Amino acid sequence: RADVLRRIDELVRLVPDYPKPGVMFRDITPLLADAAAFAAVIAEIAARVDGPVDLVAGMEARGFLIAAPVAVALGAGVLPVRKAGKLPGPTAAESYDLEYGTATIEIHPATVPAGARVLVIDDVLATGGTAAATVALLERCGAHVVGLSFLVELEALGGRERLAGHPVDVLVAVP
Ligand code: PRP
Ligand code: MG
Repeated sequence: RADVLRRIDELVRLVPDYPKPGVMFRDITPLLADAAAFAAVIAEIAARVDGPVDLVAGMEARGFLIAAPVAVALGAGVLPVRKAGKLPGPTAAESYDLEYGTATIEIHPATVPAGARVLVIDDVLATGGTAAATVALLERCGAHVVGLSFLVELEALGGRERLAGHPVDVLVAVP
């Protein structure tokens, strides 16, 4: 397990000033490309999940890459949380504030049975805007959010506070 966490540190590339000045981007492509490390990360996330899960929700785009294999590992289905305009509908949507402007995410609520136990997965927890909007959208659609898992948490941005009341699991926390 310490080994998995060390591999994440080694294989998540830090890119300063991307996509804009002052932002430290975390590039997970080297981790995805390493067969053993990626498999170990998926197994570790799945092993930490407490209790049964019906659906694993992944946020477009990078969340998809982690949510789908975790869902297979757990014997659960996948729920794509898409950026606006990508699903044919009927959709349910939730908007949230960005630094400049707003973003909207959508799901197909018909794929969420009432009371479905949903695990939410993304690569990075930053401000928590994406994750909080996902939780709000899922709960509005009748799901029970059993927890959220992230590869990396950027603690300084305070995202965890916006997820109060839900179990949050992160593999690597950056102060
Ligand atoms: C990044 C990252 C998370 C989100 C975290 O996604 O993959 O989804 O930002 O930020 P937050 O906690 O402040 O909401 P991004 O929207 O850049 O797009 P991508 O996954 O499609 O690359
Ligand atoms: Mg993302």
